[in-house]
Amino acid sequence: MYKLHRTCRACGYGPKPKPPGIKSQDSERLQSVLSLGIHPLANDFCGENDVHAGFAPLELLRCPACGLAQLSIVVSPEVLYRNYHYVTSNSEMMAKHFVTLYRLICEEEAPNSILEVGSNDGKFLAFCRSQGTQQLLGVDPAENLSRVAVQNGIPTICGQFENQVASAMAPADVIVARHVFCHIDNWNEFIRACGNVSRKTTLIVLEFPYVRDLIDNCEFDTIYHEHLSYASYGAIKALLRKSDFHIHSIQHVQIHGGSVVIMLRRNDSGHAPDAHSLQLVEWEKITEDDWRQFSTRALEKIKSLQETVKNLRASGATVAGFGASAKSTVWMNCCGFNRADIQFICDNTPLKQWKFSPGTNIPITDEGALLRELPHFAVMFAWNFETEILKKQSRFRETGGKFIVPCPGVRMV
Ligand code: TMP
Ligand code: ZN
Repeated sequence: MYKLHRTCRACGYGPKPKPPGIKSQDSERLQSVLSLGIHPLANDFCGENDVHAGFAPLELLRCPACGLAQLSIVVSPEVLYRNYHYVTSNSEMMAKHFVTLYRLICEEEAPNSILEVGSNDGKFLAFCRSQGTQQLLGVDPAENLSRVAVQNGIPTICGQFENQVASAMAPADVIVARHVFCHIDNWNEFIRACGNVSRKTTLIVLEFPYVRDLIDNCEFDTIYHEHLSYASYGAIKALLRKSDFHIHSIQHVQIHGGSVVIMLRRNDSGHAPDAHSLQLVEWEKITEDDWRQFSTRALEKIKSLQETVKNLRASGATVAGFGASAKSTVWMNCCGFNRADIQFICDNTPLKQWKFSPGTNIPITDEGALLRELPHFAVMFAWNFETEILKKQSRFRETGGKFIVPCPGVRMV
């Protein structure tokens, strides 16, 4: 189901394979910074009679050479994406983010053709079409989601971009990889595949959660098996060192708890990199001590939510969850919650409803259950949409309900 991964995905640091019979000195080792134990796959929502995929360790390692943080294992993609439930959000925040991202692209390059890697159900490409880009192509390994995209008129290849798929495609003006880059095991293959479908002027747009936000807000619940890497600017620079690409620009965006949009250009593009972005790379400093503090805070937060829920239940209050995000699975399993603690988790994604939170017997309901059941408290596991959820669910609070928001610290709203 999974294999160990002991060398840095960005710079190659790690124990080198030794010939048979030669004992490994293991002098080059990635450092363990957090271990969360054994967890189910965060998006493996199963129904009553489904067989779940299984459990695997969640441990984060840090590369002392380039600073990349990555999981100690790789779950095989066939297992990880067989029963996949992440669907690009329909939220207002996501809609606004699409506007921002498309504008950032247009400021660089008139996007007559866009290739999206990890195009999910095609929502971003559909937005690009509404803005005038007509030549679109999506690539995604999830069959169910590619089908939805095609039904909505977005040409989509179901498959793994970095394998054979890329060589069969025509070069595009823009290649976008939103929140898929950190799901990819072999980054060198990905960069090579980008080379195969690019021309001199092609702009590569990577968007991924920024490790500085992960650390500063202690977003440990975004650490799960799909997220193989937690990237910094320094790690991207190290990755590109021997490639045909370089960092062209860096923008920070609010989506998914704080992310970065890093644009790459080919070395032969003739475009000068943005000077401010190059400074950001030089100024970035993420130390071993930052990770030590992160790990301590993560364990404190887990204890804090456990105790909060335990005390509320002991006092007779009812507690539900709001948003069956992958983050909710991490919380449930770190805290050891079951249905006696959290009665249900409501979510507006039809694909998740009437299934169970992975690793627990907690049912996922529709969003309306919040007002039908009126629990005294609801833990907001989709905390990255806090403002929007507070606005949309104002009725819950008007009737006396309270949200428990677990990020950056556990607090009641
Ligand atoms: P995400 O943070 O991984 O996108 O997950 C957020 C989850 O929360 C997703 O399953 C959709 C759900 N959700 C709601 O149910 N209602 C809402 O208003 C929002 C914003 C999200
Ligand atoms: Zn490294």
